[in-house]
Amino acid sequence: MNTSSSLPLSGRIALVTGAGSGMGAAIAAHLATLGASVAALGRREDRLTALATAAADSEAAGRILAVPADITSDAEVEAAVARIHRDLGPVDILVNSAGVMLPNPLADGRADEWGRMIDTNLTGLLRVTRAVLPDLTEGADRGPRDIVNISSIAAHVTFPDYAVYAATKAAVTALSAMQRTEVARHGVRVTNVEPGLTQTELGMHIGNERLSAELASMFAAIEAISADDIADLVDFVVTRPANVNLRQVVVLPTQQA
Ligand SMILES: NC(=O)c1ccc[n+]([C@@H]2O[C@H](COP(=O)([O-])OP(=O)(O)OC[C@H]3O[C@@H](n4cnc5c(N)ncnc54)[C@H](OP(=O)(O)O)[C@@H]3O)[C@@H](O)[C@H]2O)c1
Repeated sequence: MNTSSSLPLSGRIALVTGAGSGMGAAIAAHLATLGASVAALGRREDRLTALATAAADSEAAGRILAVPADITSDAEVEAAVARIHRDLGPVDILVNSAGVMLPNPLADGRADEWGRMIDTNLTGLLRVTRAVLPDLTEGADRGPRDIVNISSIAAHVTFPDYAVYAATKAAVTALSAMQRTEVARHGVRVTNVEPGLTQTELGMHIGNERLSAELASMFAAIEAISADDIADLVDFVVTRPANVNLRQVVVLPTQQA
């Protein structure tokens, strides 16, 4: 294991939600490679443990700590952050990547799926942010501190039957902009990332067969970006000089018009 303290994120502590798969898993692995100690949070403990083991077995310089938790639970988020404080220390980089996408026509009235999306994508993100906000705002002596929120191009582009998912992402985009006005004075950067079509597990939970097939045909028609592409972007964002904040990044597959 490379223990060099000269890596760009050596000494920094990151919390990445949604780290069990997709963008969150790739971001956690990348940040560790850059020297950060990373708390990988998600519900599937086996996935998080595998990520931590892979980092320990590779040349990754930073440690990955598996932190199983459900971000729709106040108690689980608070316990997770208490554990991160005990085992790693105060958080310098928060990446909110956890999310669910459950498209359905509004006329179907699926309040159960609307609730899951709102409670995960918006309230869950707020819950995690609240739990580590004092770490971020009171950590000026530790150097640069970052909040990176994974929103979506769906915050701007209309997709039929994705209304509630898009509304949660538009809320994340608005929240990121407003959040910046509250934390910038403490030296905390906020970056809102709006990816387009990305190859991950996100579409696997779609219950509507027609919409699942439509999404599969989009993946067949264009070359999607990868979770590693997003992680590479986050690497760039959090390694800028402390006075440089990439506020908003829209990243699309080249063929996604
Ligand atoms: N893929 C795309 O095309 C795309 C495009 C734009 C934006 N996004 C956004 O990118 C973010 C990452 O998604 P992804 O594409 O990487 O999909 P993904 O592979 O499904 O990752 C989402 C992660 O969120 C975790 N998660 C879901 N509910 C959770 C909860 N209640 N508590 C804790 N963790 C939870 C899931 O793990 P567990 O089930 O183990 O908890 C999963 O690992 C999401 O916010 C998504 O909306 C994706």
